[in-house]
Amino acid sequence: MTYSRIAGTGGYLPEKILTNHDLERMVDTSDEWIRTRTGIVQRHIAADNEMASDMALYACRKAMAAGGVAAGDIDLIIVATTTPDMIFPSTACILQDKLGIEDCPAFDVQAVCSGFIYALATADMFIRAGKCRNALVVGTEIYSRILDWTDRGTCVLFGDGAGAVVLTQSDRPGILSSHLHADGGHRKILAVPGSICGGKVEGKPFVMMEGNTVFKFAIKVLEEVVYEALAENTLQVSDIDWLIPHQANIRIILSTAKKLGIPMEKVVATLDKHGNTSAASIPLALDIAVRDGRITRGQHVLLEGVGGGFTWGAVLLRW
Ligand code: UT7
Repeated sequence: MTYSRIAGTGGYLPEKILTNHDLERMVDTSDEWIRTRTGIVQRHIAADNEMASDMALYACRKAMAAGGVAAGDIDLIIVATTTPDMIFPSTACILQDKLGIEDCPAFDVQAVCSGFIYALATADMFIRAGKCRNALVVGTEIYSRILDWTDRGTCVLFGDGAGAVVLTQSDRPGILSSHLHADGGHRKILAVPGSICGGKVEGKPFVMMEGNTVFKFAIKVLEEVVYEALAENTLQVSDIDWLIPHQANIRIILSTAKKLGIPMEKVVATLDKHGNTSAASIPLALDIAVRDGRITRGQHVLLEGVGGGFTWGAVLLRW
C-alpha cells in the first residue's frame, strides 16, 4: 500500500507585529476585550511589498530543509489561499517559479480557513494514487489587505502568515484519513462580497462576518468531524495525542475540547501569537508544535478546520 506522511514542516510570520494595544489606538476596542473574547494578543502584518507567494516561499524552504527534500524533488504544489497575489496566475504557479521548479502540477485551493485541510487531503490522494512522490502543501494569507480597519468586529481577529508541509510517499501511514465538507447554504455568514468588473471593484471587498452565527456553527462541526475521523479509524477520543484546530478563537477551541473531553494539554493553541491566519493557521500551529518537540513520532494528530463557504474538514494522521 502507498501512503503519504509529513516529512517536514515550516512556518513564516512577517516581521511587523500589531498588538492589541496598537489596535486600541485605531478602533474603539481594548486589549482586555480582545484577550478575553478571542485569546489573541498580537498578530503579524505583511510588509507593503510582501505577497502571499513570498511568505509561502519562506515557509516552504523551512519545510523542505526539515524534510531533507530539495526543490528538484517536488512534483506537486498546492497552495491554500483566500488572498492570492493576483487573480491569475495562481499563487502556486508564482511560488513554483520562485522555488525554481520547472515542471510539476501547481494549483491553488480556495476553501478559506479550511483551505489547508482541503489541500492536504488533495495531496494525500495524489500520492496514494501514485501520481506524485513529494508534494508541497501550503497555507498562506494576507488578511490585512481584505480587512476594514474601521470595523472593530473583524479587524482585531485576523493576521498574516504562512505554513507549509512536505508530504511524501511512504509505505506506512502517515495520513490515516481525511474528511471534507461544504455547505454553500451558509455562504453569507462569512464572506468578502466583492468582485472586479470592467476594472472596478464591485461590492465590498472586506471581510464581513456574523460572528455569533459563525461561532456556533464552528463549535458544532468541529466536534462532529472529530467523531467522523475517529469512527473511520476505529479509534477513541483518548487515542488522540494532539488536536490541532483552526486557530480562530480560544473560546471555540476550549469549547470544542471540552465537548470532546480532550484536556487542553493535548490541544495546540498558538493564536495568541498570530491571530486568525485563515488557511495558514493549522500548518503554523503544527510547525510550532513540531519544532518545540511536543509532537513525536508515532503519535496520533488530528488537524481540523472550519471557514467561509461554509467549509470544514479534518485530517487524522500518525506522526
Ligand atoms: O476563521 C473563520 C472562523 N471565524 C470565527 O471562528 C470567528 C467566530 N466568531 C467569534 O470569534 C466571535 O463571535 C467574535 C470574537 C467575533 C465576537 O465575540 P462575541 O462574544 O460573539 O461578541 P459579540 O459579537 O456578541 O459582541 C459583544 C459586544 C457587542 O457590543 P454590545 O452590542 O453588547 O454593546 C459588540 O459591539 O462586543 C462588542 N464588540 C467589541 N467590543 C470591543 C465587538 N467587537 C469588539 C471589539 N472591541 N473589537
